Amino acid sequence: MALNASMADKVCLITGATAGIGEQTALGLARCGARVVLVGRSRERCEITAESIRRETGNPAIEFFPADLSSQAEIRRLANEFVKNHDRLHVLINNAGAMFAHRQESVDGIEMTFALNHLAYFLLTDLLLDTIKASAPARIINVSSHAHEMVKRFDLEDPQARNRGRSIFGYGQSKLGSALFTLLAPTKHPAVIQYAQTKLANLLFTYELARRLKGTGVTVNAVHPGFVASRFMAGNGTLGWFMRRWAGLFGISTEEGAKTSIYLATSPEVEGVTGKHFAKCQAIPSSPASLDEEAARRLWQLSEELTRESQP
Ligand SMILES: NC(=O)c1ccc[n+]([C@@H]2O[C@H](COP(=O)([O-])OP(=O)(O)OC[C@H]3O[C@@H](n4cnc5c(N)ncnc54)[C@H](OP(=O)(O)O)[C@@H]3O)[C@@H](O)[C@H]2O)c1
Repeated sequence: MALNASMADKVCLITGATAGIGEQTALGLARCGARVVLVGRSRERCEITAESIRRETGNPAIEFFPADLSSQAEIRRLANEFVKNHDRLHVLINNAGAMFAHRQESVDGIEMTFALNHLAYFLLTDLLLDTIKASAPARIINVSSHAHEMVKRFDLEDPQARNRGRSIFGYGQSKLGSALFTLLAPTKHPAVIQYAQTKLANLLFTYELARRLKGTGVTVNAVHPGFVASRFMAGNGTLGWFMRRWAGLFGISTEEGAKTSIYLATSPEVEGVTGKHFAKCQAIPSSPASLDEEAARRLWQLSEELTRESQP
């Protein structure tokens, strides 16, 4: 396939590139001729994905860095290795994300959904920001979700769902509570609510970052990819089974789900466009809660505190 000259000298890094929407986004960027850096948890899956993208596109410039993004030490190692090997980053796509049926904590002792879906976006972007600014015009894309609309405000008092985990109907380890929510009120399931909180955080972060990056030549936008039949929620009990069946029946393909991320990364139409929320390759409004500038500032402050490198 002919490579698109407009991306031929661009370096793009995408997280969660070993499956689903991220893998298809990486494939699309590789087709446009970009140098694509894949990030995934497993070295083996990274190797397989990189090789398959090289073979399918004829683009040899596919690299990978394995890193578990729920660990801040791993994010720091990834960023260090990246800047050691690259002095430019034109497109950063924060895409890796998950939902956890039961509340669990990361190696840093942070609730897992918040650690992976929001803090990883925040910390990786921060660590790569000097390189991104030096590469301007450059673009940051944060994969959010329409699910952000399920919560009326970001819960700054309990961002890690500590107080929402106490009863069998809380966000704890109760299999019975989780199964009942899944069957009777899936949209009220505590895991779904926590996921929605983190996807709202993606938007608050995107808009605040856009305000802070004014005049730098770096744009930042958020994406709702659609309801996608991916591997999302695999291995998550009844809730995961239910959601994957539902997505299998009514979801769009991963290829379709990657289109808006690829559009935002490559299209001249969005040159200079920043601080927007996109779906189906068009800017669309996001919820009133996502536009709360005070909440965005407080979330930023909290994220700085939670990602501060601990003193030796
Ligand atoms: N699917 C949907 O309907 C939907 C809708 C709206 C928004 N989204 C968002 O789209 C994004 C991608 O979701 P998807 O549907 O493509 O999910 P997916 O098929 O489960 O793929 C997720 C990707 O993230 C990686 N990942 C998971 N945990 C990780 C970790 N701790 N460290 C590093 N990488 C990790 C996975 O790596 P492995 O290969 O190691 O598992 C995989 O490459 C997420 O942010 C999600 O919130 C999805």
